[in-house]
Amino acid sequence: MKYAQIEWNNGTPHSAEYDDVYFSDNSGIDESQHVFLHQNQLPQRWQQKTRFVIAETGFGIGLNFIVTMMTWLRTVTPPACLHFISIEKHPVSPRDVARMAARLPELEPYYDDLLKVYPPPLPGRHLLEFAGGRVKLYLIFDEVEHALEQFEYKVDAWYLDGFAPSRNSAMWNDRVFELIARNTTVGGSFATYTAAGAVRRGLTQAGFVVKKSEGFGRKRAMLSGFIFEQRCYIVDQPWYRLPECSCREQQAVIIGAGLAGLTTAWALVRRGWDIILLDSHADIAAGASGNPAGLLMPRLASNESLDSRFYLNAYVYAIHCLDHLQSATEDQFWFKTGNLSVAHADRLRRMCASHQFTEDFIRYVDSDTTKHIAGVDLNAGALLLVDAGWVNVRLLCESLRLACADALTYRQTTVVDIRFNHGVWHVIDETDETVLTTACLVMANAAQVSQCPALNWLPIESARGQLTLAPRTEASRCLRCAISGKRYITPAYAGQHVVGASYRRDDDATSLSVSEQQANIDAINQMVPALLDEHSELAGRVAFRAVSKDRVPIVGCVPDRAAFEQDYRDLHHGKPARSYPNGRYLPDLYLSTAHGSRGLSSCFMSAELIAALVCGEPTPVEKAVVDYLNPARFIIRQLKRTPGARL
Ligand SMILES: Cc1cc2nc3c(=O)[nH]c(=O)nc-3n(C[C@H](O)[C@H](O)[C@H](O)COP(=O)(O)OP(=O)(O)OC[C@H]3O[C@@H](n4cnc5c(N)ncnc54)[C@H](O)[C@@H]3O)c2cc1C
Ligand SMILES: C[S@@+](CC[C@H](N)C(=O)[O-])C[C@H]1O[C@@H](n2cnc3c(N)ncnc32)[C@H](O)[C@@H]1O
Repeated sequence: MKYAQIEWNNGTPHSAEYDDVYFSDNSGIDESQHVFLHQNQLPQRWQQKTRFVIAETGFGIGLNFIVTMMTWLRTVTPPACLHFISIEKHPVSPRDVARMAARLPELEPYYDDLLKVYPPPLPGRHLLEFAGGRVKLYLIFDEVEHALEQFEYKVDAWYLDGFAPSRNSAMWNDRVFELIARNTTVGGSFATYTAAGAVRRGLTQAGFVVKKSEGFGRKRAMLSGFIFEQRCYIVDQPWYRLPECSCREQQAVIIGAGLAGLTTAWALVRRGWDIILLDSHADIAAGASGNPAGLLMPRLASNESLDSRFYLNAYVYAIHCLDHLQSATEDQFWFKTGNLSVAHADRLRRMCASHQFTEDFIRYVDSDTTKHIAGVDLNAGALLLVDAGWVNVRLLCESLRLACADALTYRQTTVVDIRFNHGVWHVIDETDETVLTTACLVMANAAQVSQCPALNWLPIESARGQLTLAPRTEASRCLRCAISGKRYITPAYAGQHVVGASYRRDDDATSLSVSEQQANIDAINQMVPALLDEHSELAGRVAFRAVSKDRVPIVGCVPDRAAFEQDYRDLHHGKPARSYPNGRYLPDLYLSTAHGSRGLSSCFMSAELIAALVCGEPTPVEKAVVDYLNPARFIIRQLKRTPGARL
């Protein structure tokens, strides 16, 4: 995405493209309070609420958000949480945001916090947290209509803040008004600075009771309104309509103490939940997440796709989480060295162009520059992921456990089945006994999820991988950043590089293999000739990735397979979606698995998604991505093909 072109006229930001100001040149703060807070009856309406959802069309320079956050923090006590969703098609550059901050000294500390986490201009949803999680900003970089189509939750108050309707019709049309109304809770409101007749009529027709009141500054009038009854709307793809979590106690059981399980535990603990974490091993991180190193890398397609959207948003979010966790411990596990990803130069250039990455986020660098960055001669251009790096995965898991503190209880248990009886999940161990019951259960035990009879339909398998620990050499001493191509290598730490990794399906051998070690070393020496010594001593680690049939992580609520097959059995006839009932899902059962070779990128965001579903919050990824990850996709695809086809 490209940054907005802003002109500063006497210190007031002005859009060249829309020929309009971002806010009043008199006093933006007073305007924001008068129009958006007061006319939505805030802060009164959010008192006594533990959660309040505001959505805004037009994030701009974030003034409304900052003023609202400041008011929330002054008027509401923890643990209440403000969810502020804001849509923006033309992200403002951090430089312009900083320029704004400098003009408003009373807001500067809040703007500083915003700038610390301000995302790169990537399409999709960016989840940013403030004041220890008391305020969550979901910054959606997208066209307004598309972004609103991706909403799946009810908003308490809307701030409608596009440029003037006469210059910015995309923000003020009947389709947009309808989407706003359908995503508003009964008793919810809107406010806007404009009093344009078409806006008043459009919002009235969409279902709001609209009132005109005194405008701000030179504007004589403005509009606000409430919705008092919910209309019925047709649901697209009803099979992906997710149920609300019905748990009353803030307690959950998570099976699997790897990255998927521990990130989910942390996401729920931060919301005040208590977690029991079960694993078949005596300690955490015994599976793939026990690796001494892994690269933090998004999976990138040549063009914009749902897959890249998920991985890029998840990658940016993972960087925030890693920074945060690292700041709490002295044991270094997060090495922000930057990554160079080697592939065909034309492909990498095309990728950068089609994603419109900014130079300070991801860029193509030529052969001379890679040498300068890496400290060794790759003799090739590469993609530079500026904020990427490598992670000691085992230590990361340890830091997640520490971050959960007393809210996490660990128990060694091998789970062989789960059964829903008398309103709760029974967790069954090898003796066929119920070891625990719980209302809320998260399965995060990698490929073994499908060993549970209730989940044996999930198309998931293990892929063996071997890492090599290679001693530092004279040549490799200079390596400064992580490099990836067919294999990857980290800079030396404690005298050793980690080289990864082989990839073998249908191989469950757990011992180190000489040939895989050789293949690892050879692949690195092909990228950088004679970087590593040939060495016969076997040193490394074998582990297993969980990989789904479509190679996409499996995250979300678990469908009731029998009910799906009954409700949607004639889906292959291509009947319109509206004639089907909503999807039936197993009560309060969630999955986070199949993170494949990119768990460092995908696990944090997946955990946040599960926590949002469990707690009834806005999701950190857009609906299309929630559906993309939904375990039910395999059943739906099968039913759309032919009855009886394999999943
Ligand atoms: C060789 C290799 C190299 C990799 N390199 C990278 C990389 O560079 N970058 C990257 O992002 N990712 C990489 N990955 C992938 C990454 O390690 C995984 O995606 C991630 O660790 C998955 O975490 P997980 O929690 O889903 O699985 P795991 O860490 O495997 O955890 C699953 C846990 O479930 C437990 N369990 C299983 N069955 C049961 C049961 N019945 N009852 C109780 N507990 C059970 C296991 O004991 C285990 O602790 C690599 C993986 C491998 C194997
Ligand atoms: C008046 S400014 C918003 C000011 C902002 N609320 C603030 O507090 O700084 C209007 C914003 O709407 C955005 N916008 C315009 N057309 C849009 C569209 N079609 N979709 C999403 N955002 C759009 C503009 O880029 C601009 O940032």
